[in-house]
Amino acid sequence: MIAVTGATGHLGKLAVETLLNKGTKASEIIAVVRNKGKAQDLVSKGIAVREADYGNAESLTKALQGVEKLLFISGSEAGQRVPQHTNVINAAKKAGVKFVAYTSILKADTSKMILAKEHLVTENLIKDSGIHHAFLRNGWYIENYTEQFGNTLKSGVIAGAAQNGKISAATRSDYAAAIVAVIRNPPAKNATYELGGDAFTLTELAALTSKVSGKKIEYKDMPAPDYSKLLASFGVPQGFADILADSDEGIVRGDLYTTSDDLKKLIGRPLTSLEEAVKKAVQANS
Ligand SMILES: NC(=O)c1ccc[n+]([C@@H]2O[C@H](COP(=O)([O-])OP(=O)(O)OC[C@H]3O[C@@H](n4cnc5c(N)ncnc54)[C@H](OP(=O)(O)O)[C@@H]3O)[C@@H](O)[C@H]2O)c1
Repeated sequence: MIAVTGATGHLGKLAVETLLNKGTKASEIIAVVRNKGKAQDLVSKGIAVREADYGNAESLTKALQGVEKLLFISGSEAGQRVPQHTNVINAAKKAGVKFVAYTSILKADTSKMILAKEHLVTENLIKDSGIHHAFLRNGWYIENYTEQFGNTLKSGVIAGAAQNGKISAATRSDYAAAIVAVIRNPPAKNATYELGGDAFTLTELAALTSKVSGKKIEYKDMPAPDYSKLLASFGVPQGFADILADSDEGIVRGDLYTTSDDLKKLIGRPLTSLEEAVKKAVQANS
């Protein structure tokens, strides 16, 4: 049995779909979700849905009973994730899980980004648990930008504090393909994969978006505190706005840049290009 946490989230849904497309039977998948009401599509596919919250150790222990391989998708509640992820790992150990694939962040062991801290702690907890594991250190999602295209195309501006830093982003579906490859065929030994696509700067993203949309789109760079204020003015909670601004400072340092070809190797086909992703997002917003 393969359990997928966060199975009602963007990446989790794609991972479950990809597992099915690759030939894993629905009866071999357990979707671990915190709200069964959001998982009706999974139920209708014949997938067992078990409710568990990362904050509730007992629910996790029940949810992981009989699980052999765990695709552990990191939680989205930044700041809460060390106790939450500790619960997941303890539950995996109690349930006798044989292999854990954890979605971490690029360069988790050297990155100075705020977001990287909880991932590194989680990686170390998994190492200490003694469970056979793989760390899938995901770079940025291209969707972090393309999902904002409704506003981008109206305002003509991509704002940020990333200067000319390079971002090795890829689409969520490419990351999903990689993590599914690893969960279906775990590496013989514990492994760490640095996953990212072809790198671009935000100036290059703006130029490409201009070319594709036929509208003038500019990258407006600003100091990180100003970027955080701007995000907060759009309704992003201040704490998260600070984290996003800090991530842009990480981009300047190269924390989200990699030359690794682990992603391409794992999925065994070319990655979705930035241009393809931009075209799709421009069409969706036209
Ligand atoms: N690489 C990147 O650019 C990037 C960007 C954003 C996030 N991430 C990380 O990658 C993960 C997956 O990305 P995503 O786009 O799929 O994010 P997402 O759509 O927000 O999915 C997060 C999933 O985690 C579940 N979750 C959150 N808190 C939980 C809790 N306390 N107990 C149980 N489940 C909980 C959510 O449940 P619900 O469905 O009930 O909400 C959701 O299914 C994120 O959680 C985050 O750690 C990476």
